[in-house]
Amino acid sequence: MKGLILSGGTGTRLRPLTFTSAKQLLPVANRPILCFAIDALRDVGIHDIGIVVGTTAPEVKNTLGDGSSFGIQVTYLHQSEPLGLAHAVSLARPFLGEEPFVMMLGDNVIHGGFQHAMKQFMQTRVDALVLTGPVDDPQHFGIVQLQGDRIVRLVEKPSRDLGNLALCGVYFFNPVIHAAIRAITPSPRGELEITDAVQWLVDHHFSVSHTVVTSWWKDTGRPNDLLEANRLLLEDLTPDIQGSIDHESVITGPIQVGSGTTIRKSTLRGPISIGHNVHIENAYIGPYTSIGDDVTIHGTDVEYSVILSGCIIDQAPRLDQCLLGRYVEIVRTTRNPRSVRMVLGDQSICEWS
Ligand code: G1P
Repeated sequence: MKGLILSGGTGTRLRPLTFTSAKQLLPVANRPILCFAIDALRDVGIHDIGIVVGTTAPEVKNTLGDGSSFGIQVTYLHQSEPLGLAHAVSLARPFLGEEPFVMMLGDNVIHGGFQHAMKQFMQTRVDALVLTGPVDDPQHFGIVQLQGDRIVRLVEKPSRDLGNLALCGVYFFNPVIHAAIRAITPSPRGELEITDAVQWLVDHHFSVSHTVVTSWWKDTGRPNDLLEANRLLLEDLTPDIQGSIDHESVITGPIQVGSGTTIRKSTLRGPISIGHNVHIENAYIGPYTSIGDDVTIHGTDVEYSVILSGCIIDQAPRLDQCLLGRYVEIVRTTRNPRSVRMVLGDQSICEWS
């Protein structure tokens, strides 16, 4: 069985980070989000994986290469415009052939993977099996309606109340899905929706079932979701300290510290993941924080944040719920006149109280 990961979206809801980086490569717990999708597929025994890429193809290829370092074989499939999930499947048709396959959205994280769903699909031989999970904001998801345990209706981003059971971005399909995709037309948002293709299967009496995810799952499409996925993944952190921590520092809870990293006169309360060659001094780093490589943090409190590589934070106000792109500088100066001087990219967010 083959796997298909969709990694072509533009990530508008994660701007400005996605002006310069693919959304699927933003790190959670210091690993690109896309790697969790690869793990999940590999863990159910799928090694032949097509990855649909868009404008950020060079960056994705640079990170994954031919897949061998991840124990898989990658075939890149180019989607010139983000015309929808079903469109991505249709362009992957030559790769997928006449076999069943599992598709996963590259910006979703399913905790613990989906072994149980794979087993169910293999045993029941249904035409489609989708993973579902309850959400608080159904208007942002594809929502399924059930009669008993049978799916009777699927609606993408419903504007009225259809319940809260969402599609979690993992779909097992028989090749009949290709006929469904050929039959549907673009949605009001101009995309060929996979949700509509599954509805077509339901309408034409093909067998469509679902399985509810047993643990948590996250679509990391928005800043708060990415921070929350980071928190949830850090809950599973295995402590590993490679760098040096001086005697004046106080560490509680699990932390990971990469090689070449130095921590001096600081208090760290895990779970925290810290990359390589990071320098932390006179700082407090609180739970659920991930810090990329080559970051400097001096004299600042940081908590529940994701800080990408190369950032410099020096004598800044307390940072909480922050998502900082690469090479961001937040530093206190003694320059006059006293003021806040900012160089912010388009759609940056700056809040203080
Ligand atoms: C997509 C799907 C939607 C699904 C969601 C899961 O939405 O269209 O049905 O519920 O992923 O994350 P998007 O993230 O493209 O808005």
